[in-house]
Amino acid sequence: MTTYSSNPDGTVSEAELAYLRRRAAGGFGLVVTAASYVHPTGKAFDGQWGCHDDSMLPSLAAAAGVVHGGGALACLQIHHGGRACPSRLCGGGPWSASAIAAEREGAETPEAMTEGQIAETVQAFAEATRRARSAGFDAVEIHGANTYLLQQFVSPHSNRREDAWGTDRLLFASQVVDAVLDAADGMAVGYRFSPEEPHSPGIRWPDTAALIEMLAESPLDYLHLSTWDFRQGSLHGSFDGSTLGHVARAVGGRKPLVGVGKVLSHEDAEECRAAGADLVALGRAALLEPEWPALARAGGPYRTRLPRTGAAESLTWPSGIAERAYAGSWFELEQEPQPD
Ligand SMILES: Cc1cc2nc3c(=O)[nH]c(=O)nc-3n(C[C@H](O)[C@H](O)[C@H](O)COP(=O)(O)O)c2cc1C
Repeated sequence: MTTYSSNPDGTVSEAELAYLRRRAAGGFGLVVTAASYVHPTGKAFDGQWGCHDDSMLPSLAAAAGVVHGGGALACLQIHHGGRACPSRLCGGGPWSASAIAAEREGAETPEAMTEGQIAETVQAFAEATRRARSAGFDAVEIHGANTYLLQQFVSPHSNRREDAWGTDRLLFASQVVDAVLDAADGMAVGYRFSPEEPHSPGIRWPDTAALIEMLAESPLDYLHLSTWDFRQGSLHGSFDGSTLGHVARAVGGRKPLVGVGKVLSHEDAEECRAAGADLVALGRAALLEPEWPALARAGGPYRTRLPRTGAAESLTWPSGIAERAYAGSWFELEQEPQPD
């Protein structure tokens, strides 16, 4: 999870190292880092950390080191924000498949990437993978979800190109997968994707079925579905039942599948597994309970609400995430103490 707390030069901060160290020691099997930009044009948030240059190697090695120190495996999530990058962060007009702005207020209109920029970006994913390997990571996860550049090439909203990158909207993703697998040289590689988009035109189930087919037939090590709630169904009524179950059937056991979204308790995790996940990922629960796996083994109880005060210190949160958690709608607040 992005913590919005890296140093302005893209290196990981001391507060982020403390955050990672505590969770790795809390019993998680694999710690997937926050999205890390592979190219200077891919920085999407203030306080995002980078893997875009060899000068980031000590920072990457420090992150992998604290995760290993806590006893977990370390996976670097590699990312390019595409049209989601504000020009003030990414050094100019953001890049995307086509010059179409996202459907949100204030969205900037990106530049349609040239052949050269596409090749440079594919290469940047490969270089980031090489850096992850030399920094000691056990895996990289290609961030193909949550509206960022890889998803923008898959989507008919953001990709209206008439060249090969548009007539085959999976081409960019497949080239990135090939380049990353090549650079990984045996290190594990996963791919995260979002199954549907709300807007029209947008990604619909047939697009995702084709993407899954491509990914499941590649030598990738795992797939990671991105959903806000693992129980959610199709946004467009395209299938019955949960999206997780539908995706699991499409994957058909060819790759381990990670399920995620609103898993707060051990019972939720069991339900997520029964719905089709081979592995269960925790986002917000790991913010609220850094020692969640240890608590799960002990049978709970779990904190499921945000403490009214003191979360940043007691839960080892970097300031960027603490500010947003209190400003946003990710959590319900703990009840006020009742008078006796
Ligand atoms: C603060 C915050 C930061 C996130 N950062 C990332 C990220 O860097 N990469 C990513 O793939 N998903 C990111 N997500 C999405 C989560 O990985 C996850 O899919 C989502 O929060 C649902 O799972 P949960 O209910 O366990 O939190 C983020 C979510 C939140 C709330």
